[in-house]
Amino acid sequence: MPQSNVTPGTPVLDENFKHIAFIMDGNGRWAKKRGMPREYGHKVGSSNFKKICLYCCDIGFQAVTVYAFSTENWKRPKHEVSAIMNILDNYLDELKRDYKKYHNRFRFIGDLSVLTPALQEKIAYVETLNSDQPQVLNIALNYGGRGELVHAFRTLAAEGKTDITEDDISRTLYTSACGDPDMIVRTGGDIRISNFLLWQAAYAELYFTDTLWPDFSPADVDECIRVFYSRRRRFGGL
Ligand code: IPE
Ligand code: IPE
Ligand code: MG
Repeated sequence: MPQSNVTPGTPVLDENFKHIAFIMDGNGRWAKKRGMPREYGHKVGSSNFKKICLYCCDIGFQAVTVYAFSTENWKRPKHEVSAIMNILDNYLDELKRDYKKYHNRFRFIGDLSVLTPALQEKIAYVETLNSDQPQVLNIALNYGGRGELVHAFRTLAAEGKTDITEDDISRTLYTSACGDPDMIVRTGGDIRISNFLLWQAAYAELYFTDTLWPDFSPADVDECIRVFYSRRRRFGGL
């Protein structure tokens, strides 16, 4: 596993903490505080997302899942939605050029069918990059936990499944390949899930911080790890 950027003092992960998920919230407020348009917050937030993902990969997370755009985020003003789609488009172009700088594969989870054909094509290509890497970055895009469950139930119905088990549902979720997150982190101060990973969150440790996403740093990731290992997970046992 690449450990190139890891400095001494970085927490050591083990098999109990393989998957971290982020609700990257607070870009708009971060920009507003600086008298800037919300779009600027998304731009800085997207740079920070790259930095945090690189760090999480370097320190050895097997899976990182980020909430980039929800099924409800279409309710925002058109100009904000197009700014976010533009950032995504640029990110995909950047990955096409510079994917080797990352040591993970890329998965886009959500209902991608409503994106423009050009974006869908770029996403399909980017998902072929680094395919030999064991670590995965899941980017949730036009994602909603309820929508994901509907998609899973429809898949099972199409298979003709009637005696549906928990395993059947887990294997038809977008995240089937990497399993459930061990911890879900939400930045930006709100204490809610906002339709993220509803099924997968069943026993995730939840971590909420007031820090706005553009300010969230690798040291904050270290703090999440410290908190994770300070908690006693019982999974319903004693
Ligand atoms: C999260 O930041 C990013 C997306 C939802 C795309 P917000 O845009 O929700 O920022 P705040 O919560 O309004 O500050
Ligand atoms: C959740 O943030 C979605 C993403 C971070 C992509 P929102 O800002 O959309 O959530 P609410 O509206 O505060 O619940
Ligand atoms: Mg928000």
